[in-house]
Amino acid sequence: MHIRQERESDCSAIAEVTAQAFANVTHSDHTEPDIIKRLREAGDLLVSLVAIDGSHLLGHVAFSPIMINRQHCNWYGLGPVSVRPDRHGQGIGSALIRAGLAQLSSLNAGGCVVLGDPAYYRRFGFEQDDRLRYEGAPPEYFMRLTLNAQQVPSGSVAYAPAFTG
Ligand SMILES: CC(C)(COP(=O)(O)OP(=O)(O)OC[C@H]1O[C@@H](n2cnc3c(N)ncnc32)[C@H](O)[C@@H]1OP(=O)(O)O)[C@@H](O)C(=O)NCCC(=O)NCCS
Repeated sequence: MHIRQERESDCSAIAEVTAQAFANVTHSDHTEPDIIKRLREAGDLLVSLVAIDGSHLLGHVAFSPIMINRQHCNWYGLGPVSVRPDRHGQGIGSALIRAGLAQLSSLNAGGCVVLGDPAYYRRFGFEQDDRLRYEGAPPEYFMRLTLNAQQVPSGSVAYAPAFTG
């Protein structure tokens, strides 16, 4: 298994793996493949990595810019992240996330936020921070990881427009 940047020829496999991964996720509205497509079309897919085994695409992770208090701020949102269901629990999701965070850091990103299960995302260093608020989600599920920023910005976070359709 290796991780690399997405290529144009990966797009349909990314959509398929994403749909499969989220098919049984109860809190999903199953729009994740469309979100990735819209992010790509809008030029908001800053980091988009795939996990490949031979000719098979096993997983994908996306990172896109967020706004804080309606301002661009060089912070990014992690997600969607997906691994083919028959390959869960083999470290593929973690490898994708770590590689994506390393790439974000090398691009001099201030930091990254994620909306998800703290039991999973804490292992990468994400933690809840009262300075960053995300409307409509329980605060403990919204976390940040500081990369190159000297200070954590404070305010209300909005994901890229692709997330709202
Ligand atoms: C979340 C996901 C990408 C993780 O990928 P993965 O390759 O299975 O994860 P890894 O093998 O790197 O890590 C496995 C660990 O994560 C835990 N884990 C996986 N998904 C989790 C979740 N949703 N909540 C909490 N823990 C989770 C496993 O229990 C396991 O824990 P352990 O290391 O303590 O045994 C994958 O499960 C997936 O595609 N899920 C469906 C889509 C989804 O929910 N995406 C995230 C939305 S926020």
